[in-house]
Amino acid sequence: MSDSVFTFTGARVVDPASGRDQAANVVVDGDRIASVGRASRGLAIPAEGLVLAPGLVDLHVHLREPGGEDAETVESGTTAAAAGGYTAVCPMANTQPVADHAGVIEQVLRLAREAAMCDVFPVGAVTRGLAGEELAELGAMAAVGVRCFSDDGHPVQSARVMRRALAYARTWDAIVCNHAEERTLTGGAQMHEGAQSDLLGLTGWPREAEESMVARDLILARGLGARLHVPHVSTAETVALIRAAKADRIRVTAEATPHHFTLTDDEVSTYDPVYKVNPPLRLKTDVEAVREGLADGTIDAIATDHAPHPPEEKEREWAAAPCGMLGLETALAVTITELVRPGVLTLSEAVAALSTKPARSRDMVGHGGPIAAGTPANLVLFDPEQRWTVTARSSHSRSRNTPFAGRQLWGRVRHTLLRGRFTVRDGEPLRPAHEDGMGDGA
Ligand code: DOR
Repeated sequence: MSDSVFTFTGARVVDPASGRDQAANVVVDGDRIASVGRASRGLAIPAEGLVLAPGLVDLHVHLREPGGEDAETVESGTTAAAAGGYTAVCPMANTQPVADHAGVIEQVLRLAREAAMCDVFPVGAVTRGLAGEELAELGAMAAVGVRCFSDDGHPVQSARVMRRALAYARTWDAIVCNHAEERTLTGGAQMHEGAQSDLLGLTGWPREAEESMVARDLILARGLGARLHVPHVSTAETVALIRAAKADRIRVTAEATPHHFTLTDDEVSTYDPVYKVNPPLRLKTDVEAVREGLADGTIDAIATDHAPHPPEEKEREWAAAPCGMLGLETALAVTITELVRPGVLTLSEAVAALSTKPARSRDMVGHGGPIAAGTPANLVLFDPEQRWTVTARSSHSRSRNTPFAGRQLWGRVRHTLLRGRFTVRDGEPLRPAHEDGMGDGA
C-alpha cells in the first residue's frame, strides 16, 4: 500500500468507462483515487498537456515463465508491460510445463505476487499439453480464477473438442480463445500466401485457414450460447465474419494486434525474421479492414501478442526462425501514430480498445476505469505529442524482436501507477512494486 497523497494537475482525463474526456485534477490517496475535479491535495504533479487514462490491459501476452526464461520472465515481461503503460496482462498457456492445470496457474500467480510490475491474469490451456485431444482441467483452473482458456499457438483442430471446451467453459461463463488456423491448409507455411510468397519462394499461409476456423467456431459458439474470443484477427473476411456474428448476437469478442493493423507482407521481402509471425502479416486491404473493425467496434480490443524470442533463436534464416514479435512497449505509441493521429479512432476509442473493453471482457475489477473517487489508482499518464524512436536495445524485455525498431512514433508513457504506486516514473520502471496478486477488489 502506498501512503502518499498527490495530485495530477490539469491532466486531460480520458476515461471511456465514464465518458469523460476533459481536463481535471486527479487526487490519488494511498492506493485509490480520492477525487476527480478541481480539488488538489498533497504533492502537485503537473500534467497539463498530458493524458491520464486507466492503465492499459493486454489480453494476449507471452511471459514464457515457467520454462522459457531465456526469452522472458514474469518479472521482465511485466516490467516491459509497465513501461508500455499496462497495469494488467493475460499470459498465454504455452509455457513449459503448459498451464493446463491449476498447479501451473498458481505458480504463475505466485511469481506475479513476488515479482510482477502489473497484475497478471493467466490464461489456461484448452487441452492437455496443447495437444488438441483431451480437455485440460478447466474446472480446477476456473476455481483459481481463470476466465479464459486458449491453446494459443496451437489451434484446437477438432470441432468435437472445441465444442466440448465451449460447453464446459460456459459453466463458469468463461471464454474460449482459439488460435484460428486450419492446419491442413498451413502445414510448413512461412508467410501470407499471395503474390509476395510466390515472388519470395516461401510457402504460403492462406487467409482461408483463419477464416474457415473462425466461421466454424462462431457456429459452434452460437449453438451453445457460449463465449468465444477471436485472437489476432488478420484478414478482412475474419472481420466481416465477426461483424455478422455480432449482429446475430453471437457472444464473440475479438482482438487485433498493432502489427496486424500496421504492417504488411511487403516487410517479408527483407527476409528479416523479425517480421515472421503467426498469423502472418497480410495485405494492405486486410490492414484497412482490421482498422475499420476497430473503428466500428467489431474488434473490441487491441492486444499485443507480445511474443519474445531470444536472439540466438529469432535471428536465424527465415525458415528456421520462430514466429512472434514484441509489442508491450510500443502498442500505445503505434496506436496513437497509426490510428489516432490519422483519425481512425478518437483517443477515447483507442483507450477503450487498449483498456476499458478488454478489462470488462474478463471482469477485471479495478482495471479499465472508471477514473472516479474510490476506485483503485491503476493509471497511465502519457504525452500523446512526444515523438520518439524505437530501439530494440532499450527494451525492458529479455528479448529484442521488435518489428518497430528504427520507427519514429508519437506518444510516450510518462508514469504508470498500480494501486497508487509508481511502477514507472518519468518513463523508467521502478522496482519493487507489487504486493497483491491477481486482480483487486474495487
Ligand atoms: O507469432 C506467434 N508467436 N503467434 C503465436 O500464436 C504464438 C506466439 C509465440 O508463442 O511465440
